Amino acid sequence: MSDLRALLALAAPQRALLALGTVLMLLESAAALLVPWAGGLLTEAMLRSAEPTPGGAAAAGVGVVLAGMLGLFALQALLKFGNTYILENAADRIVSDLKIRLYDHLQALPLTYYHERRLGDTLALLTNDVYVLSGFMSGTALALVPLLFTASGAVMLMFGIRPALALSAVILIPVFYLLTKVVGRRIRPLAAQLQEEYATAIAIAQENLSMLPAIKTFTREAQESARYREQIGRVFQLNVRQRRIYAALEPASQLIAAAGIVLVLALASSDLGEGRLLPSQLVSFLLYAALLTRPVAGLADVYGRTQMARGAFARLQQAMEEPPEAAGHAGIALAAVRGEIEFRAVHFGYGGGRPPALEQLDLHIAAGETIAIVGPNGAGKSTLGHLLLRLHLPSAGQILIDGVDIAGVSLASLRRQIGVVPQHVLLFNASVRDNIAYGRPDPSQAEIESAAVAARAHDFITALPQGYDTLIGDRGVKLSGGQQQRLSLARALLKDPAILILDEATAMFDPAGEAEFLHACRDALRRRTVLLITHRPASLAVADRVVRLDQGRII
Ligand SMILES: Nc1ncnc2c1ncn2[C@@H]1O[C@H](COP(=O)(O)OP(=O)(O)OP(=O)(O)O)[C@@H](O)[C@H]1O
Ligand SMILES: [Mg+2]
Repeated sequence: MSDLRALLALAAPQRALLALGTVLMLLESAAALLVPWAGGLLTEAMLRSAEPTPGGAAAAGVGVVLAGMLGLFALQALLKFGNTYILENAADRIVSDLKIRLYDHLQALPLTYYHERRLGDTLALLTNDVYVLSGFMSGTALALVPLLFTASGAVMLMFGIRPALALSAVILIPVFYLLTKVVGRRIRPLAAQLQEEYATAIAIAQENLSMLPAIKTFTREAQESARYREQIGRVFQLNVRQRRIYAALEPASQLIAAAGIVLVLALASSDLGEGRLLPSQLVSFLLYAALLTRPVAGLADVYGRTQMARGAFARLQQAMEEPPEAAGHAGIALAAVRGEIEFRAVHFGYGGGRPPALEQLDLHIAAGETIAIVGPNGAGKSTLGHLLLRLHLPSAGQILIDGVDIAGVSLASLRRQIGVVPQHVLLFNASVRDNIAYGRPDPSQAEIESAAVAARAHDFITALPQGYDTLIGDRGVKLSGGQQQRLSLARALLKDPAILILDEATAMFDPAGEAEFLHACRDALRRRTVLLITHRPASLAVADRVVRLDQGRII
């Protein structure tokens, strides 16, 4: 039931379109219900014209009824076009809204969400689950309303003609109910399993394609291909099972419905013989019964697809209910800071049975100070920077910037103050210019160039075929490691933040480049607070103070 309420909430903005479409759809069903009635009229007119009466009045009657029927079919076609177009349009809008909301939500989730699951699972949400739901809404849910309307209308009108006969058709309803129950019980777990295996297939493909250099250099193509093939095999097997159920469903339903018609015919023939039923009534009745079989035969299928859509919807809802980063929008805005930083008894662990990454950490950094942070791999140096950016929250203690606890400030105002050159460079598949300009709205070419000069990137950029307009490929693959790092540095410098975190920012620089950078940046670095995470002696020389971290503690 809560699924339904959430779905309705999504549909609410489209209620005008949905209402209009539904009205047209009901009119279409009503037109469909008029057809058997017209069939009765036609039979009557034909029987009358067959009687040997003088004059062509009766023949004209047939012509009028036939013309009326044609008009009715035309009206039905027009109404069908109108409601299909409008309702599918509304369904597409709902799905687009859902995709956007889902994406925005995924983007707002903390990084830990992604550390704990495969990217493929998230991609499957955005692709397969949204697709299933969209197919359900425009294909199944929208088709259901007219089916039900036509079916119930047909039953009522059948009762109007001959209640005893109609009752024999209604007997079939519990039989169908049982069928859907049995089928539903098999389809639901199957659909969930299928989705799980499908997500795994996406995850394998996604990871492998992004790891292609490793696969090629370790010549693991055969194994990775086999792994993917095996996974697709699982998906295939489940698909076969699911299709078998669906393939059996419709003929089974049709058989039951046909048996019902045979029953009706048997009863009707005696009614007809004893004069309780006119031939024209029988024709109407049979046409209503035919109208009824289609929706009824489709009902089991609708039920199965509803179960699948419910699974997809539940997974989407689960992701939507994940809490976004704490105080993402709320909290006070951190005003422009001088850059004084204080870690007070900060404690943090990544969880999952690992020892704490930072323990009882006390560190005071004066505004404008350049502090070098050194220590062995895994000491917690990068983690320190992550906590300052509030990518993770400390489990105890406080972090203050200019005396303000960052736990209560809005994320945007906090992160605006801090420039980072991360240890693992992150570049977009865009031009050099767009990559450098990423952290700052509409910088001038002069500003971009001066940041590039400071990061020792300008010279190699101008040597590129299209200079600042050169596209650098996925994650910057078309650049060397050191060049990527220089771009990353230029991007952080252009942001011109009060606090700069350089996490091994010159690790891939050649010694001459590093020396030049450090020399050129001496003044630039003076004006801000710099956390210089490094192993390089040359970088250490520019620091005011060196702090050594080991196993999450300052020593
Ligand atoms: N996302 C994560 N989930 C779980 N544990 C993590 C995660 N990131 C880091 N760790 C662990 O936390 C500890 C500190 O990692 P951190 O990246 O801060 O080290 P570091 O001092 O920057 O090391 P390096 O010199 O290698 O860059 C390590 O033991 C690491 O294995
Ligand atoms: Mg690190």
